Amino acid sequence: MKRFISLVLTGAACLLAGCERPPVDVVQHGYRGTGMQQVYNPRTLEQQAERNVAPPAIPLPPAEGPKASQVYKNVQVLKDLSAAQLATFMVSMTNWVSPKEGCGYCHNLNNLADDSLYTKRVARRMIEMTRFINADWQTHVAQTGVTCYTCHRGQNIPSQVWFTKKDQPYGSNFLGDKSGQNTPDPDVNWSSLPYDPFTPFLLNDQPIRVGATTALPTGNRQSIKQAEWTYGLMTHMSQSLGVNCTYCHNTRSFQEWKGNPTQRVTAWHGIRMVRSVNVDHMNPLTDEFPAHRKGELGDVAKVNCGTCHQGAYKPLYGAPMLKDYPVLKGTPSGDAKVASK
Ligand code: HEC
Ligand code: HEC
Ligand code: HEC
Ligand code: HEC
Repeated sequence: MKRFISLVLTGAACLLAGCERPPVDVVQHGYRGTGMQQVYNPRTLEQQAERNVAPPAIPLPPAEGPKASQVYKNVQVLKDLSAAQLATFMVSMTNWVSPKEGCGYCHNLNNLADDSLYTKRVARRMIEMTRFINADWQTHVAQTGVTCYTCHRGQNIPSQVWFTKKDQPYGSNFLGDKSGQNTPDPDVNWSSLPYDPFTPFLLNDQPIRVGATTALPTGNRQSIKQAEWTYGLMTHMSQSLGVNCTYCHNTRSFQEWKGNPTQRVTAWHGIRMVRSVNVDHMNPLTDEFPAHRKGELGDVAKVNCGTCHQGAYKPLYGAPMLKDYPVLKGTPSGDAKVASK
């Protein structure tokens, strides 16, 4: 009997090893009685808080004196800065992207105007990309905005990026096409949901909404198979923001928008923003990157919700870094592509 009990206890301990240890905090997020609560683990939050502190700002000097484009030979994007401002901004970029390697990560130190290092050519496009996000996607990033630090956090490559995955190996012939399922993957929080929810939704614009609007299957593409992909993406979104589904949905109906927290609308714009960043800014850089930076299919590293959020409901808990770096604000181009789906 004793042996049996200890077996049961060991079994229970093994099963529960994947669960989070109590106590957890529960916070009401929706109206009373809707059951819309957020469950937070204070120990996870503590680690999160440490990782989400914005570095102290290095404000740019006033725009007096000669322009960078007059003093230097090869300034194509930061033209409106004064020479002194450019030098100060270079220090911030170094802190954000290559604090260990220093200026030499992007520059040939014998000739700062030289463009031979790919890192410099990429960094120039990244300045444009950051401006594009801040100017054209205020529906998502508001005035809080983003800087290089939002994604890079002092690292050459942001800690959360993704590549298109190779076709899933077939199971036994009996199983056939597994449709991405049953290959547990950290991108979908180790669940057996389709393991690449990014290519269809954050690069291509496959429909995410699965709730059928007609009773009969005629012309109705919605299926359980389709819903699994949507759930894969939703799991990624929850995980990236460190929230439960009820942060955006009233789970009475996942389809319904009425009565949902406004965060769902912000997320809707976020999905479109990420697509346009990947399609219009990351993909065109593919040829610039050396092979060892690319994925197994030769594609460039791409952005998902985790690239900026890194586990927080707002990146860096909403620290408004952009206000200290007007150089990254940019002017709205009006060509933010909001796919209608
Ligand atoms: C993450 C990459 C990166 C790092 C790190 C970096 N730079 Fe730059 N630097 C650039 C880019 C990109 C340009 C060109 C900007 C443009 O075209 O508007 C540039 C341009 C310059 C120029 C103008 C050169 C010319 O004649 O055209 C100077 C000077 C400069 N950087 C100095 C520095 C210094 C000093 C450091 C270290 C404190 C540094 N940079 C660190 C990316 C970087
Ligand atoms: C929205 C997120 C995001 C922002 C904002 C961002 N980057 Fe990047 N950056 C990336 C991703 C993703 C890659 C990785 C591409 C790859 O490896 O294929 C990258 C790569 C780079 C690289 C190449 C590093 C290497 O070793 O290959 C440089 C340099 C760089 N970024 C500079 C910058 C600078 C400077 C800024 C700010 C002006 C900036 N980035 C803003 C996402 C971002
Ligand atoms: C950060 C906000 C956010 C979180 C968290 C979130 N969702 Fe969503 N969800 C959305 C948005 C936005 C859409 C609509 C996407 C679109 O149409 O482009 C959506 C759509 C859906 C749909 C499709 C509904 C339809 O119209 O057919 C389902 C199902 C769904 N979510 C389930 C979930 C589940 C389950 C979770 C938790 C694992 C979750 N969501 C977490 C924002 C969120
Ligand atoms: C380029 C960086 C970046 C990426 C990528 C990104 N976000 Fe955000 N997100 C932000 C910033 C910055 C804010 C803060 C805006 C503010 O202060 O109102 C934010 C805010 C939000 C909010 C509002 C939170 C609240 O409590 O008000 C939601 C929800 C959200 N993001 C969801 C997403 C989802 C889902 C994705 C992926 C599809 C995503 N984000 C990708 C930068 C990003």
